[in-house]
Amino acid sequence: MGRAGAAAMIPGLALLWAVGVGGVAPSPPRLRLSFQELQAWHGLQTFSLERTCCYEALLVDEERGRLFVGAENHVASLSLDNISKQAKKLAWPAPVEWREECNWAGKDIGTECMNFVKLLHAYNHTHLLACGTGAFHPTCAFVEVGHRPEEPVLRLDPGRIEDGKGKSPYDPRHRAASVLVGEELYSGVAADLMGRDFTIFRSLGQRPSLRTEPHDSRWLNEPKFVKVFWIPESENPDDDKIYFFFRETAVEAAPAMGRLLVSRVGQICRNDVGGQRSLVNKWTTFLKARLVCSVPGVEGDTHFDQLQDVFLLSSRDHRTSLLYAVFSTSSSIFQGSAVCVYSMNDVRRAFLGPFAHKEGPMHQWVSYQGRVPYPRPETCATTHFTTPSKPLAPSVPPRTSPTMSSILRGTTPSCTTLSCPLGGGLFSYKLEPITPSLKLPRTGLQPLTDTMTSSSLAQTLARC
Ligand SMILES: *[C@@H]1O[C@H](CO)[C@@H](O)[C@H](O)[C@H]1NC(C)=O
Ligand SMILES: *[C@@H]1O[C@H](CO)[C@@H](O)[C@H](O)[C@H]1NC(C)=O
Repeated sequence: MGRAGAAAMIPGLALLWAVGVGGVAPSPPRLRLSFQELQAWHGLQTFSLERTCCYEALLVDEERGRLFVGAENHVASLSLDNISKQAKKLAWPAPVEWREECNWAGKDIGTECMNFVKLLHAYNHTHLLACGTGAFHPTCAFVEVGHRPEEPVLRLDPGRIEDGKGKSPYDPRHRAASVLVGEELYSGVAADLMGRDFTIFRSLGQRPSLRTEPHDSRWLNEPKFVKVFWIPESENPDDDKIYFFFRETAVEAAPAMGRLLVSRVGQICRNDVGGQRSLVNKWTTFLKARLVCSVPGVEGDTHFDQLQDVFLLSSRDHRTSLLYAVFSTSSSIFQGSAVCVYSMNDVRRAFLGPFAHKEGPMHQWVSYQGRVPYPRPETCATTHFTTPSKPLAPSVPPRTSPTMSSILRGTTPSCTTLSCPLGGGLFSYKLEPITPSLKLPRTGLQPLTDTMTSSSLAQTLARC
């Protein structure tokens, strides 16, 4: 990735918020916005760091009134009230030795051997956790941000630098997704230099780290991680689960069909402690199910197979929380995007259903009819209910494959049929001219062009 290319992709950051002007009739709902229109609009201000690209990590901190930004060799802290007021930046380059090593490994010193900050999480009352590629030497650090909104602080804590392997990707072109729960980080990332050892990894905290089986396509097959959420299920923290959203190449596709890209939701129990023998330090509760988003049309259904982003609309009763997911197509003939909604209830139900199973290499994938292990792997261990003391036989699911047989079909949200005002909150924008257009179902609306990211779109829709 050349600097010029990357810079062209994300020319700057813009922050937009609702200008709630009392007494003025609300303008008609908008579903199409170009960057020019945003620029012309009163509420838009932009921010960019000199000689820096790739504003990839964004963290809104409403308590402090700040937007934290991770970019190439930098972390910035911006005011949510006025993006150009009291902006602070922190230089966090990779050490010279790491850059030289990176260069010896054949990477470009000027573009790849930099520290691309990929991850920012609020760690505690005073610090953020930040992780970056560190010139193909992933690294994490704690950034002091203070606790008083009126006195913004932005300082790297030199006392505690962590290995960033399994947290940030090595390669600036790769994405990672993660969530911090307490002191533990759950991440979906490639954990090796070559970018082939994809893993769902738990790290930091006090417990031993856990991961998915390395280089086993049944667990993960060239995944692209999109989002991770921690979703409690009841008052009991033992029921808490972590949900991973990603897309991957399906192993269950018939060979005649060629490469089939699918979108997935994966789950693990927060209280998973790993298995025994060959499963030491591996998840025992990892399961995944397929997400499908298709929109009916006159000439048949249009399938949107590429999950791009997910927004969780939490409700007090976690069972009724909704997931707004943005999909695009991988087809070269038709390009478009759609928003599909899934209920957490349906997601849970899919994980309670039958497993997908294949008796042998020459067999078809079917729903597993045999005896299911007890307690089922999706049941998180509790004090009453412990994980199987006997390791599962390798011939039964989910040891054979952690994939569920049920397919989750999303509904297209009713609010995409309009009446969704833009505004009413804060939106952060990454300006990507190449964001695919949005094709909304059955309403004949204009596609959304260039600038809005899928994430902010999903948030917009979820607010109506
Ligand atoms: C934002 O802050 C800058 C610098 O302090 C100032 O020039 C500008 O007028 C402010 N804009 C708004 C809308 O308050
Ligand atoms: C937050 O975490 C950092 C890094 O571990 C530590 O230095 C700091 O003391 C912690 N602050 C609080 C308030 O716990």
